Amino acid sequence: MDQFCIRGGKPLRGEVEVAGSKNATLPILAASLLAEGPCRISRVPCLRDTETFLNLLTEFGLRCEKKGAGVVEIDTSGARTGTAPYDLVRTMRASVMVLGPLLARFGHVRVSLPGGCAIGARPIDQHLKALELMGAEIELKEGYVNVRADRLRGVRILFDMITVTGTKNLLMAAALADGITVLENAAQEPEVVALAELLNGMGARIQGAGTPVVMIEGVERLSGFEVEVPPDRIETGTFMIGAAITGGDVTARRCEPDHVRSLTLRLREAGLEVTEGNDWVRVKNGGGVRPVSIKTAAYPGFPTDLQAQFMALMTLAEGACAITETIFENRFMHAAELIRMGACINIDGRTAHVEGVPSLKGATVMATDLRASASLVLAGLAAEGETVLRRIYHIDRGYERIEERLRTLGADIERVAES
Ligand code: EPU
Repeated sequence: MDQFCIRGGKPLRGEVEVAGSKNATLPILAASLLAEGPCRISRVPCLRDTETFLNLLTEFGLRCEKKGAGVVEIDTSGARTGTAPYDLVRTMRASVMVLGPLLARFGHVRVSLPGGCAIGARPIDQHLKALELMGAEIELKEGYVNVRADRLRGVRILFDMITVTGTKNLLMAAALADGITVLENAAQEPEVVALAELLNGMGARIQGAGTPVVMIEGVERLSGFEVEVPPDRIETGTFMIGAAITGGDVTARRCEPDHVRSLTLRLREAGLEVTEGNDWVRVKNGGGVRPVSIKTAAYPGFPTDLQAQFMALMTLAEGACAITETIFENRFMHAAELIRMGACINIDGRTAHVEGVPSLKGATVMATDLRASASLVLAGLAAEGETVLRRIYHIDRGYERIEERLRTLGADIERVAES
């Protein structure tokens, strides 16, 4: 297993190009299961999760070929339905996104139930309830869900809660259903919009993606596609917070400033200088960080995927603030590790009360999930002395060669084998 050795105290400075979005790539790959024709996807980030999803697609007869420079070509001529096995779904919950497309196209599919994960229970009841309303028969057996429907039919679906993957699954299912489906209380995340635009390019008829009400008129078939993955807004935000926490000055290029608006506003409140253009955003820390309380929410609210990184920043703020996590019930695992670095954090249910300290001190800490790892990397970059971050396979799920890119910004970070 690898670990990161980080010698902190060096401000991040310079420019960095943002990679394609992990959470946009996975549904795009899932959509290839609907395509009657070849697919070509560019700006695919080289990550453990994208690798896992490409492996999953081969279980369903697709032939995926990496062409270098982030391009993946998919031959969909052998597409068939089958089973998404436990071992893949367990390592990557996003695997449940094969449910909608395979059911809609082939009339049945078998998917392992994901089970809980490090950040919460994360059930898929909303996906299943909605598919049932569309006429699917659902049977739970031996940890797997078997879903059948000769042809799904369009209905009105009101999600009990906002679910990103649930909305994506239903968009793909409804795209080939009989009649009109209306999704209410739909997720509005940019990755949902990217998927809807892709599906429309394949011949689907979807209106309203990016708003809480989405209307999908089913069509008979969908074609192959060529698409570029949009920039990763969580990676953009991570670099922005990296500039803030190290007292640096970083410009993230090839990104979408609108998609990180909630973070930009909070950073400005915290006293940071944030400027932006069409496809870049620059964060400069002119000195000091004021405490700012946040509450995570579905898009366009403050993203849960940046909560851990923002908490790292607030551990060094000049005062106290409250960080409330509303999306996942167990997403404060990084707090205990930050405390080992000298942070002052008290958890009370879903709120973390953070009292800023003058400095963090390097320590050996453990990554528990993807975004927690990012938070600890940022804390390590800002801390005095050396931080050793273990179990960095978590960070490789969602950030491409993060240490190399941080080094170009002046960070002292190395990947070494755990002794
Ligand atoms: N939920 C249910 N039932 C459902 C679906 C969701 O109870 O049927 C609950 C979940 O347990 C959770 C909340 O609703 O508490 C939100 O879940 P959602 O379905 O929106 O999350 P997701 O689609 O599984 C995606 C991202 C996550 C990101 C969340 C929230 C992907 C592959 N994953 O997860 O990304 O945190 O939306 O924005 O798109 C990450 O990248 O690190 C990551 C965890």
